[in-house]
Amino acid sequence: MCKRFLALVLFCLPVAAQQPGRGFGQPQPPAGPWINADLPPDQRADMVIAQMTFDEKIQLVHGAGGFGPQAAGQANRSNGGAGWIPGIPRLGIPDLNMADSAVGVTRGAQRSRYSTGLPSALGAAATWDLELAYLYGNVIGRELRDQGYNMSIGGGVNITREPRNGRNFEYLGEDPILAGKTIGQLMKAVQDQHVLGDIKHYALNDQETGRNIGNVILDKRVARESDLLAFEIGLRDSQAAGVMCSYNKYAGDWACENDYLLNQLLKKSWGFKGWVMSDWGGTHSTNKAAQAGLDQEMPGSQYFGDALKKAVDSNEVPMARLNDMCHRILRSMFAVGVVDHPVTPTRVVDVFKGLEDAQKIAEAGIVLLRNANRTLPLNGAAVKSIAVIGSHADVGVLSGGGSAQVDPPGGNAVPPPPAPAGQGGRGGMGMMFGGAPVYFPSSPLKMIRAKAPKAKVEYNAGTDATAAAALARASEVAIVFVNQPMSEGRDARTLSLPDNQDALVSAVATANPKTIVVLETGGPVSMPWAGNVAGILESWYPGISGAQAIANILFGDVNPSAKLPVTFAKSEADLPHPAIPGIDLQPVPPPAGAAGGRGMGGRGMIPPFDIPYTEGLKVGYKWFDAENKEPLFPFGFGLSYTTFAYSDLKASADSVTFTVKNSGTREGVETAQVYCSLPAAAAEPPKRLVGWTKVSLKPGESKRVTVKIEALFVSVFNVDKDGWEKLAGEYKFAVGGSSRSLPLTATVKN
Ligand code: BGC
Repeated sequence: MCKRFLALVLFCLPVAAQQPGRGFGQPQPPAGPWINADLPPDQRADMVIAQMTFDEKIQLVHGAGGFGPQAAGQANRSNGGAGWIPGIPRLGIPDLNMADSAVGVTRGAQRSRYSTGLPSALGAAATWDLELAYLYGNVIGRELRDQGYNMSIGGGVNITREPRNGRNFEYLGEDPILAGKTIGQLMKAVQDQHVLGDIKHYALNDQETGRNIGNVILDKRVARESDLLAFEIGLRDSQAAGVMCSYNKYAGDWACENDYLLNQLLKKSWGFKGWVMSDWGGTHSTNKAAQAGLDQEMPGSQYFGDALKKAVDSNEVPMARLNDMCHRILRSMFAVGVVDHPVTPTRVVDVFKGLEDAQKIAEAGIVLLRNANRTLPLNGAAVKSIAVIGSHADVGVLSGGGSAQVDPPGGNAVPPPPAPAGQGGRGGMGMMFGGAPVYFPSSPLKMIRAKAPKAKVEYNAGTDATAAAALARASEVAIVFVNQPMSEGRDARTLSLPDNQDALVSAVATANPKTIVVLETGGPVSMPWAGNVAGILESWYPGISGAQAIANILFGDVNPSAKLPVTFAKSEADLPHPAIPGIDLQPVPPPAGAAGGRGMGGRGMIPPFDIPYTEGLKVGYKWFDAENKEPLFPFGFGLSYTTFAYSDLKASADSVTFTVKNSGTREGVETAQVYCSLPAAAAEPPKRLVGWTKVSLKPGESKRVTVKIEALFVSVFNVDKDGWEKLAGEYKFAVGGSSRSLPLTATVKN
């Protein structure tokens, strides 16, 4: 009898696990007509809403607490991510389990889960490769599913107005078209895994300093053509389900209760069908936020819990608006497939595939910035001795901190000294909450040794420049690793590398003419020593396979092909804002209505202040072009171990065709870039990126390539007409290998 019962249970188990609508750890729902996957998502959502109680509606529009399982009595249902919203099991609606996943799935450590630590998102942008952007999102989407999440809250596309912004490593560079196209593919890949995507931080949250109190001032036309364009393209290309509104104010209103940003632009002009969730603690009101277009308060219920219930009861917020919030959430769940393909974790993350994918992206995203006398690639068989110096390169590579922090396998490869009693940082969050920088256990020293098995390869920590220089002097080649730990919640005050690393590089370079510098930085840094070293590689935060990728480039197994998605300035003096707005303000007690919780940021509460982006459209290279300033390394720049020649440009209104030749001696990939100068009447910066293509060429080989130019990319925004327009006049196209190397030009009349 007992045996027969056991057999029955075992027989039934897998069948039950496959029932549609059966979410992770949730009871099986009764069938309702909305379970029919052939119906349009909007219709399915309305069918569910018709069955929902008032309380169920309210429950859907706010989080049940962030940062782990804390909702009383239901703790076992949260998956431990940054956000959790209980579903409605009786109607077959699964919980929403959300995880930060800007550079890989976060918060793995607390449940002993493994996630692939990807290279910085900025490194993915440096590939200029939309297939790799898709792969990046694919890794995130599949690992979210494997871990039991059905929503990503990654996907930052704030453009790099401020190169010292602590979160630039999570974002996709300074150009709205490159950033927008990249996030579009990345989020598409996430959603193709039936995991809801989200694009953040909407909008103009371009610095961490005072992020929860600063009021951004930027003219509408400029905003549409710069920061907002990245969101517009990304949402158009991915149909992402979620948009996270940011902490800051824009034009006097908090982003999460900003009628222009949410209702008028996002929902009306762009036709966004998904839902707007607040950044964590970024909701400031009930009625105003609800009417302005906020659909979900995260991670708690201060404004969209009982307060919203009362407001709907008293008709201050119409029931139709609450239904609209629910509709947006539910229709997205149906559209992306989280109801039809519920998360039922049945396997562990594919670690090996993750390592491979991370390496592929890192190799395509590491930028070769300097290669004097063709010092690189190194010949592993011939080199006799190598000094490896600095940045804990004996054990690991640096990662980015804050809510994007991915937990490294085995813990921090550079364990910080124990914190004094009662002052421990928050585990797994890196530096944001007072923790130390987190290193991934990917050892450059080991990989370099493997590439040069006969060489004497020695390591020096770089903490004593004299000792490091002595080792460099005694070695044939010196490879200095330098880093810049960056994190959510704070910006770098300057572009300089911290901890006297400039002095370290200079000392080593003086001791050894064959000095190669490998940077691990959140974004652009200054390099006063750039002209004195033989080679420079920018590896961003290169991820779990970073050491392999770096070594493969140093020794020529991979020919570098990445290009900068951000301008590197020589110094702060050349930036639109030599000092970050608000950086010197001192904390004061919080004013009434200020964002609470995590929105308070790492520096405490500073008084309200304006962030006037006076440079307007002149972001990044557009500033350097317009102001005739020479950057240290221009946008779009990156060397290869071969060379490329451009010829024979033919341009029409919507495409350019030209020839790229590999004029060097080894196979390589060129990212050919197309810029356009608009008619003078447009009053635009001198040029903008309007397209690019990647061309793979054998030595001596030529290819004729065509780059299509989208009308949007050569248009300007007309505020009076509330639309994009292409002006009459001359459009000058320029083509080449970087924003400052454009050998081909052609003019087309419109
Ligand atoms: C960050 C968001 C993040 C959220 C949840 C906030 O502090 O700004 O990017 O998604 O926390 O962790």
